[in-house]
Amino acid sequence: MSKIVIAIDGFSGCGKSSTAKAVAKALDYTYIDSGAMYRATTLHFLNKLTVLTNPRDIRNALESLNVSFQINPANQKQETYLNGLNVEKEIRSMRVSNYVSEVSKIKEVRQELVSQQQKLGKKKGVVMDGRDIGTVVFPEAELKVFMTADLNIRAVRRQKEILEKGDLVEIKKIIQNLDERDKIDSTRKESPLKKAEDAVEIDTSLLEFDDQVDRIVSLAKEKI
Ligand code: C5P
Repeated sequence: MSKIVIAIDGFSGCGKSSTAKAVAKALDYTYIDSGAMYRATTLHFLNKLTVLTNPRDIRNALESLNVSFQINPANQKQETYLNGLNVEKEIRSMRVSNYVSEVSKIKEVRQELVSQQQKLGKKKGVVMDGRDIGTVVFPEAELKVFMTADLNIRAVRRQKEILEKGDLVEIKKIIQNLDERDKIDSTRKESPLKKAEDAVEIDTSLLEFDDQVDRIVSLAKEKI
């Protein structure tokens, strides 16, 4: 069976990551969370405690950046590491969520992370989710999916996810953050979030999780 690249893009909080993970599991593919790479980069920049606006400072910060993924043997979940430290919980905090879209606008950041993502997907057999996977990272991906969902539904789902990790965040703050990130991500100059012309659009507002996974797995099987 030939291996393909599956690109899943869409708005913040549409369930892209959990869907992509389940699709990867069903096909025995590797899942790559490109958003986690932007989040870890944001944490790295925040740790520097300076506003990085100068291209030279940005390049220096990128030189000391090493983002990797490891499977936690205790729960088989993929976790994100920044320069050898497990940052999985920290990168999902509101502190990082509130800055990530600003950092993701920076040209040098995108060039570096896109090149790392292309290397990770070179051998195919990957499901990668993000904002520009079908348009910029893998424009030749065999299957492209663009996920959308109603903003309020996305916020409720995100609040539940955060609660499961032990934190409570006001729904108003989540709506504000999702909306703001969508606006910045869709209007930025460097690889803005947009549906690739050949992407299949899936609105998950009223879909059951298993149905959206099955739909993508079936689409993938048609291409394999
Ligand atoms: O996917 P997630 O919501 O974790 O992504 C966090 C942020 O990272 C997005 O809001 C966006 O600003 C940025 N991002 C991006 N390009 C990607 C993936 C994420 O700009 N491919």
